[in-house]
Amino acid sequence: MKRDEFSGFFGVLVATVGSAVGLGNLWRFPYLVGQNGGAAFILVYLAFVLIICLPIAVSEFIIGRRTRANTVKAFQILAPRTPWSAIGVVGVIAAFSILAFYTVVGGWTMDYLFRSIIHLFSKPDISSLESQFTTMVTSPVRPIVWTVVFVLFSAFIVMCGIKKGIEKYSRIMMPFLFLMVVILMVRSLTLPGAEKGIAFLVEPDFSKINTSVILAALGQAFFSLSLGMGCLITYGSYIPNKENLTRVSFSTAMSDTLFAMLAGLAIMPAVFAFGISPQEGPGLVFIVLPRIFAQIPLGNYFAVMFFVILLIAAVTSVISLLEVVTAYVTERLKVKRKYAVGVIALLVTVCASFSSLSQGVLSDVKIFGKTIFDFFDYLSANILLPLGGLFIVLFVGWYMKKALVYDEFTNQGTLKGTLFRAYYFIIRYVAPVAIAIVFLDLILR
Ligand code: TRP
Repeated sequence: MKRDEFSGFFGVLVATVGSAVGLGNLWRFPYLVGQNGGAAFILVYLAFVLIICLPIAVSEFIIGRRTRANTVKAFQILAPRTPWSAIGVVGVIAAFSILAFYTVVGGWTMDYLFRSIIHLFSKPDISSLESQFTTMVTSPVRPIVWTVVFVLFSAFIVMCGIKKGIEKYSRIMMPFLFLMVVILMVRSLTLPGAEKGIAFLVEPDFSKINTSVILAALGQAFFSLSLGMGCLITYGSYIPNKENLTRVSFSTAMSDTLFAMLAGLAIMPAVFAFGISPQEGPGLVFIVLPRIFAQIPLGNYFAVMFFVILLIAAVTSVISLLEVVTAYVTERLKVKRKYAVGVIALLVTVCASFSSLSQGVLSDVKIFGKTIFDFFDYLSANILLPLGGLFIVLFVGWYMKKALVYDEFTNQGTLKGTLFRAYYFIIRYVAPVAIAIVFLDLILR
C-alpha cells in the first residue's frame, strides 16, 4: 500500500503550522513575555527561532522525508544496528509525556468553552473567577470527563489519516483560527489604555536580559515549534518530494511567530488596560481573561471566541503528538490505524487522568518533588525536548554523510542550495553548543 502523503505546499503548511501553533503560543508565550520583561525577551526569542530552531526544523524534515518512516524506524534506516534509534524511542515517550498534561489543559479549555456558551446571556460573577477555576481543576470527575471528550475528538481526526484527517481538518480550522485571533487583537487594541500593553511588547529594556531570560526564550522556541521529539520527522515523512524543506520550515517558523505576536497583542493590551500584573503566570488565560471579558462590550461573545481559538490551537497540536505514536505503532506492529489510535487514546486518557487528579485528590503524590501534572510538563519540555534536539543535530551534522544531507536539502540537486553552508555550519557547531548550554543549566539548577 502506498504511504499516505500531504497534498502539496499548502497542505504541508497548514498541518505543520497547526502543530506548532498551540497552547504554547496562546498561553505559555504571553505569560513568559510578562514574566521575563517584555520586548527584550521577544527579541532574544526571535533570534533563537531564526538562528537555531529553523535549522533544527529542516534537519528533522530531512530525516523524515529521506526515510519515509516513523521516528524510530527513520533512525534504524539511516543508522542500522546503532543506538541512534533511541532518539526515536525517547521521542515516543516524550509524546506521551506531553500528551499527559496537554490534553488536561485541552479539557479545561472545553469546560470553559462550554461554560462561556451557557453564560452567553448572563453576567458572570467576577469575584469568584479564581475560585471557580480552582474548584474545576481540583474536582475528581469533571475535568477528566472533558479531557476524554477532547482526546476522542483529536483521536477521531488522526484515525482518518494524513490527507483525509490531519490535513483536511487543519485546512478547515487554521484559517478560521487566524481570522479569530486577528479580530480578538483588534478588540484588545482598541480598549482604552491599551498603549501601555503595546509599549511593553515593543520597547525593549535590555537591562532585563540575563541568563535565565535567555534560557527561557530558547526553551519556549523549542516547545513552540514542536521540535526535539520527532514530530517534524513524522510530518516530514509525509512531505512530497518536490516541496522545498527550507521553505516549509521558514514559513512555519514565521507563521508560528506571527501567531505568538498576535496572541501577545491580543492579551497584553487588555491586561494593561485593566491594570492587571503581566506577571500573573499560568492562570492568565483562565482567570484573568474571563475577568476582562466580563467587563468589555460584547465580552460574552469574545469569551466564546477565545475559547474556540484555544481549543482549535490545542487540537491541531495534539493530533501531531498522537501521530508520532500512531505512525510508530502502526508501522512497528502492522496493525490498522484505527485500532492503534484507539489503544493510544486509551493510554493517553489513563496518563491524563492521573495528571488531572494530581491537581486535587492526588496532590500529595510527588515524583521528584513535583505533582504528576508538573512532572510530565517538566520531563518533556525541560529534559526530553532539549536532549532530543541535541542528538538530532548531532546525528544530521556529524553522523549522516554530508552528501546525503545536501541531496535531501536540495531535493536531489534540483534546488540551488545557496543556504546550505550556513545551515550546515549551524547544525554542526552553533546549535549543539547552544542546546548543551541550556541543558546543562537546566539540570544544574
Ligand atoms: N508546539 C505546540 C504548542 O506550541 C505543542 C506541541 C505540539 C509540541 N507538538 C509538539 C511541543 C512536539 C514539543 C514537541 O503548543
